[in-house]
Amino acid sequence: MFRDVSSCNTYNYGDALYWDARYMQEQGGAFDWYQRYSSLRPFVRKFVPTSSRVLMVGCGNALMSEDMVKDGYEDIMNIDISSVAIETMRRKYEYIPQLKYMQMDVRDMSFFPDESFGNVIDKGTLDSLMCGTDAPISATQMLGEVSRLLKPGGTYMLVTIYPKMTLYLSPALSFILKVHIMKTVLKFTLTDNLW
Ligand SMILES: C[S@@+](CC[C@H](N)C(=O)[O-])C[C@H]1O[C@@H](n2cnc3c(N)ncnc32)[C@H](O)[C@@H]1O
Repeated sequence: MFRDVSSCNTYNYGDALYWDARYMQEQGGAFDWYQRYSSLRPFVRKFVPTSSRVLMVGCGNALMSEDMVKDGYEDIMNIDISSVAIETMRRKYEYIPQLKYMQMDVRDMSFFPDESFGNVIDKGTLDSLMCGTDAPISATQMLGEVSRLLKPGGTYMLVTIYPKMTLYLSPALSFILKVHIMKTVLKFTLTDNLW
């Protein structure tokens, strides 16, 4: 799969307006960043029980959640800062009760009470925040919220292309870290250096 992002710069990835414009342009299409569910399935099935209440942060227009439901997952709350993505996905999946969609900023998920979810999945969303302004502050806010929302013993599955991202998972957040390096990534163009 090829995605040309040569007209983008990394600053835009942290900006809701950028994502709204992009999803509007994609007109209801679907795209999964980095990996499809089929490649991630061994990890998801290992760490995420199908009966778990799952939070998919920054769902975009990816097929990941749909594929998980097809694989037996029962309850996936999808959030994204882009109202365009959320409205599109809500309409697309209104016939699948296991999938719910809400427009929300991952840095402030106060709508949800503490320990609301057994598992949080993030494919490319913390990466996007790291391209915005005040990136370290945004990352800290987001990870604090993720930590707050997880039940004791829950998992945060972060799919990232930035090797140093784990540095933000500070001991204060009490994450036990397990890193798996995948040898392949879906092909896309990056115009900016990985930091
Ligand atoms: C790289 S895309 C990944 C989309 C999807 N997870 C996937 O795997 O294809 C990053 C997503 O994060 C969303 N996003 C960016 N900043 C956000 C924020 N502060 N709160 C919630 N979502 C955000 C964007 O709208 C976009 O859909």
